[in-house]
Amino acid sequence: MKALDGVRILDMTHVQSGPTCTQLLGWFGADVIKVERPGVGDATRGQLRDIPDVDSLYFTMLNHNKRSITLNAKRDRGKAILTRLMAACDVLAENFAPGALDRMGFSWERIQEINPRLIYASVKGFGPGPYEQCKVYENIAQCTGGGASTTGFDDGPPTVSGAQIGDSGTGLHLALGIVTALYQRERTGRGQRVECAMQDGVLNLCRVKLRDQQRLAHGPLTEYPQYPNGTFGEATPRSGNASGGGQPGSVVKCKGWEDDPNAYIYVIAQAAAFDGLARAIGRADWLDDPEWNTPEARLPKLDRMFEAIEQWTRTRTKFEVMDVLNPLNVPCGPVLSMKELADEPSLRASGTVVEVDHPERGPYVTVGSPIKLSDSPVEVERSPLLGEHTDEILTEVLGLDAADVAAARADGSV
Ligand SMILES: CC(C)(COP(=O)(O)OP(=O)(O)OC[C@H]1O[C@@H](n2cnc3c(N)ncnc32)[C@H](O)[C@@H]1OP(=O)(O)O)[C@@H](O)C(=O)NCCC(=O)NCCS
Repeated sequence: MKALDGVRILDMTHVQSGPTCTQLLGWFGADVIKVERPGVGDATRGQLRDIPDVDSLYFTMLNHNKRSITLNAKRDRGKAILTRLMAACDVLAENFAPGALDRMGFSWERIQEINPRLIYASVKGFGPGPYEQCKVYENIAQCTGGGASTTGFDDGPPTVSGAQIGDSGTGLHLALGIVTALYQRERTGRGQRVECAMQDGVLNLCRVKLRDQQRLAHGPLTEYPQYPNGTFGEATPRSGNASGGGQPGSVVKCKGWEDDPNAYIYVIAQAAAFDGLARAIGRADWLDDPEWNTPEARLPKLDRMFEAIEQWTRTRTKFEVMDVLNPLNVPCGPVLSMKELADEPSLRASGTVVEVDHPERGPYVTVGSPIKLSDSPVEVERSPLLGEHTDEILTEVLGLDAADVAAARADGSV
C-alpha cells in the first residue's frame, strides 16, 4: 500500500511548478490524471528536445507516475467530461495563467457546486496585489521573491540560482498545502482552496535574508564579506559564498582548480572544531595567538583566515580534503558537478538518482523522490505519452461507453 492510495488528482498543471507537485503526489501513490490539450499537450514535451520528435527530458523528468488524457476544455463535450472528472477526483491542481480556469467556465464557486469535497490547488506568480495578473516563470519569481537581490557577489549583478526555487520550490509548497487540506477534509468533509504564489514561495525560502534586513538597522552584518572593510546600504546585500548562519564559511579552491571548474570545497570554520582545522592546515600557532584563537578575534579577518585554509586545500583534491576534515568534525562539502551527482553510487542506491526506461527515448537518468517514507516506497514510473490513457480514463474512471468515447473523439473534445 502507498500513502496516498485512493486519492485521485485531476492534474491540469503544465511546465514545471505544478508538475513537480503532482509528481510527488504520484510517487506517494495518488492516481494522477494529467489533462492536456489534444495534439499539443504540455508545452514542455517539445521544449529543449535532445532527440527529434521524442518527449523532452524537461517533460519526462517532471511527469513520472501520471496518466495522460487529452481533452479540449473549451468545447462543450470537453467541458462536460471535465465536469465529470472534477466530480470523480479529490484534488484539482492547476498552474494556468491567472483567470484561465474561470475563462473555461470553472470558477471556485462552480467547482464547489460540482464537488464540495474537491481540493482546488493552484500556483500563480503573485498573490493578490498589483502584479496578480502577470504570467511568471522561474527567474521572474527568483527576482521578485528576494532570491536574486541577495545572490551573487557585491560587485556583480543580481544573480539567479541554478536551483529552481521558484518553480520546484513552489510545487513543494503546493504539495504540502494539498496533503494538509486532504487531512482537514477527513474531519470536515469539505474541500478548500489551496493557493501558492511563486513570489511568496521564494520569499519563504529567503527567510534569513529578511532576518538580515532587520538586523541591518542595528549595525553591520558581521558574517557578510562586506564586513569590516566594505559598506552596507539600505538593503540586505549579496553575500557571495559567505555562510548564512552564525558560523563563518566559504568556498575554497582545491587541487586541480585551474582546469576543473568544480574543484572546490565549502568549509565552515566552526568555533567548536577550530582546533582541528587549524592543526590540519598547519596553523597550530593560531591556537596560542590571541589575534586568532577566538571567534571574535578572527571575525574582522575572515578573508585572511580563508586564504590560509585555501593554501592548504589547494594541495589536495576536494575528496582528500573531505577525508581529512570530516573526522575532525569540521563541516565541509565538495562542490559536486551534475556529472558527479549522476554517477554517485550512494545516490543510485538510495533511489535519489534513478534510471528510467522510456518507449521512445530509451533509458534516461532522473531524480527520484527526495522524500523517503518507510511505509510507502517510491517506484519511479516513466512519464505518459500524450493522451496514452485517454480511453482508459474515460471508460474506467467515468464509465463512458464506446459510443460516447467515439463521439468525443469525433468532435475533437478528446
Ligand atoms: C506558465 C505560464 C506563464 C504559461 O503561460 P501560457 O503558455 O500562456 O499558458 P496559459 O496558462 O495562459 O494557458 C494558455 C491557454 O491555453 C488554454 N488551455 C490550457 N489547457 C487547455 C485545455 N486542455 N483545453 C483547452 N484550453 C486549454 C488556457 O485556458 C489558456 O487559454 P486563455 O488564454 O484563453 O485563458 C502561465 O500559465 C502562468 O503564469 N502560470 C502560473 C505561474 C506558473 O506556474 N509559472 C511557472 C511555470 S513553470
